[in-house]
Amino acid sequence: MAYRWKSNLTERDVTPQSVYLNRRALLGGVAGLGLAGLAGQGRAQDGELVPNSWEDITTYNNFYEFGTGKGDPVKNAGQMTTSPWTVTIDGLVDRPGDYAFEDIMSRMTVEERIYRFRCVEAWSMVIPWNGFELSDLLEMAGVKSAAKYVAFETLYRPEEMPGVRFPVLDWPYVEGLRLDEALHPLTIMATGIYGRDLPNQNGAPLRLVVPWKYGFKSIKSVVRITLTDTQPPTSWNKSAPREYGFYSNVNPEVDHPRWSQATERRVGGGLFARNEPTLMMNGYAEEVASLYTGMDLAENF
Ligand code: MTE
Repeated sequence: MAYRWKSNLTERDVTPQSVYLNRRALLGGVAGLGLAGLAGQGRAQDGELVPNSWEDITTYNNFYEFGTGKGDPVKNAGQMTTSPWTVTIDGLVDRPGDYAFEDIMSRMTVEERIYRFRCVEAWSMVIPWNGFELSDLLEMAGVKSAAKYVAFETLYRPEEMPGVRFPVLDWPYVEGLRLDEALHPLTIMATGIYGRDLPNQNGAPLRLVVPWKYGFKSIKSVVRITLTDTQPPTSWNKSAPREYGFYSNVNPEVDHPRWSQATERRVGGGLFARNEPTLMMNGYAEEVASLYTGMDLAENF
């Protein structure tokens, strides 16, 4: 199975990475793990996803508010204050307001989701997130029937974010989903990785994760969620509309204007790792393809 959701947590779900991998090696045999490594870390032979290491996940990042280099966020994001943190939920909701992060957490059920993560730049990882379903948060605020879209906004705090001095994007970083995408049970707000709080460079204290879409849809360090009846603007679409559409579903058949999306390079795959084929909707087509019935996916890229 490519992911787990709504599953009962097993002991493995709360096992630290090192113990988890050791136990896998014991269970599957060291040779099995080695073979999986050679074939490209992450594609274990039994079809189970092997997560990337904590090191891979937390040191190779995109968080342009802290610089555009992959190593900039881990270097610079430590300055971001994440406590206190409030999320404003407004627009077409019954209970608009500024919700304290702790209050949100006390009302949400956190579970582990091991998801593939595919960046539009053609690298990928497998990440064991901890988080809760976005639909539960939206239910808390009460979505009005006129709402059709959900808009998200990242913190904008120039004194703590060296990257926003540069007009790489129109700050603050904004993203959006159609309401049915936002309510899909695969869509989560992540608050941790490997059972630990989300590090700043990964979007602390809470960030969106939409596993069937390119990584840039998974907006970090969210401070505002707005329910609207019109399609919201999104940062990468505003900056290069020909290259980044509103939907941005992972699709190996629709190339980026400047590179192929047919394959991906697994971060941490090692010297011998070959590019792997990219899967339609990042391997989640069975769950989400029906959201796009009747739509031309090349046109609505
Ligand atoms: N969110 C904000 N606010 N700023 C960003 O630059 N980068 C996006 C996305 N969310 C980004 C962001 C991109 S391009 C990717 S691939 C993922 O975050 C990277 O997430 P990760 O660093 O946790 O792997």
